[in-house]
Amino acid sequence: MLSGEVSISGAKNAVVAIIPAAILAQGECLIENLPCIEDVSSLVVTLRNLGAKCEYINESTLKIDTSDVKDFCATDEGVKKIRASYYLMGALLARFKRAEVAMPGGCNFGSRPINLHIKGFKALGAEVEIEHGIVKLKADKLKGANIYLDVASVGATINIMIAASMAEGKTIIENAAKEPHIVDTANFLNMLGANIKGAGTDVIRIKGVEKLHGAEYTIIPDQIEAGTYMMAGAIAGGDITVKNIIPKHMDSLSAKLEEMGCLIYEGDDYIRVVSSGNLVATNVKTMAYPGFPTDLQPQMTALLSIAEGTSILTENVWENRFQYVNELKRLGCNVTVEGRAAIIEGVKHLSGAEVSATDLRAGAALVIAGLAAKGKTYIGNVKYIDRGYEKIEEKLRKLGAGIERIGTDDDEN
Ligand code: EPU
Repeated sequence: MLSGEVSISGAKNAVVAIIPAAILAQGECLIENLPCIEDVSSLVVTLRNLGAKCEYINESTLKIDTSDVKDFCATDEGVKKIRASYYLMGALLARFKRAEVAMPGGCNFGSRPINLHIKGFKALGAEVEIEHGIVKLKADKLKGANIYLDVASVGATINIMIAASMAEGKTIIENAAKEPHIVDTANFLNMLGANIKGAGTDVIRIKGVEKLHGAEYTIIPDQIEAGTYMMAGAIAGGDITVKNIIPKHMDSLSAKLEEMGCLIYEGDDYIRVVSSGNLVATNVKTMAYPGFPTDLQPQMTALLSIAEGTSILTENVWENRFQYVNELKRLGCNVTVEGRAAIIEGVKHLSGAEVSATDLRAGAALVIAGLAAKGKTYIGNVKYIDRGYEKIEEKLRKLGAGIERIGTDDDEN
């Protein structure tokens, strides 16, 4: 059983766009509610390599001064590791009309193309070449354009928004993605002096400005971290309050947890989850926001594994995001994957075993399953979890979970 309160950190997928976007400021930005996660540390190193001054005022406040950034080449190891380094393309292109950025890495769940980002940059007037694993962008000047996204891509929407903020004239992005971190990045850019309207709807209008300036900004709470703790409460049973969140962002998950038998109470900035631990099966389909987030899909599989009955979980965003299922099976989950669907037969008990995280959210799913499993669960490759969850073991321990970090991933090799 879990009980008590857990406070949610700033949103990973917002901050990883906002830090590169600070390059546009050519001045000092103060970023508050910064999550203490590996993806942030990695981006800070990259920004320093480009010539920015980055200073932690405290654990959750970062001062970034991008006045002296002169370099437009970002090819260090960190860039290759994280997905969000693609935002350096939009940011460097906006500021210098040139960018050379290593192809982004990130969690591996099938093909993760960036063709729509490239389509957007080209529409704004950039020439794009990919050579030796480096994306090279060059423009005499950037000019506003009408850009229709074939797929409502989060990354392409944000990247085009960043680049178009300093393009000449007006840009319209149609079929834009609507995730909360898109709104957050647009709000940040507007604080810097950009003119962006419509973020959070599927048409975003941007009037380019010549110059931006520094600003202070507070990152929104992390929807996915919040959802992960709500599910931890649901699987372990008990009564927990997930604090410092925007409850509206959680609607699709709250509805599913209620269907499964949990009680959900919403306040202005918190959600209380009360669960007996006895859950019933349901069907879930991942969709772009405001649908059920793909980044909560693995955690949901873990939860449905102990729900009575048969559940079908359909992954509509990524082509291959079920690689973690084999690890869940080691804990006793009964899951069969057929194409984009996982069929989950609820079992009475899970039992602890040695497992390994295959990516960030898969790691979170193993933690959740481990909370319900009888006996001890050992999770390897926790470096993936550290990419996106701040102090996960500390936060869960405060709720009463028996979880500790033993050694580092390096010890395993
Ligand atoms: N797509 C294209 N072409 C593109 C870009 C995307 O076809 O140029 C397709 C993808 O193949 C995919 C779909 O569009 O099928 C959606 O991809 P999207 O571009 O929205 O994903 P992303 O921007 O690369 C972000 C998050 C992911 C999250 C997805 C979907 C960041 C840094 N990453 O990725 O987060 O799964 O949106 O919501 O914001 C995570 O946090 O664990 C994570 C993987």
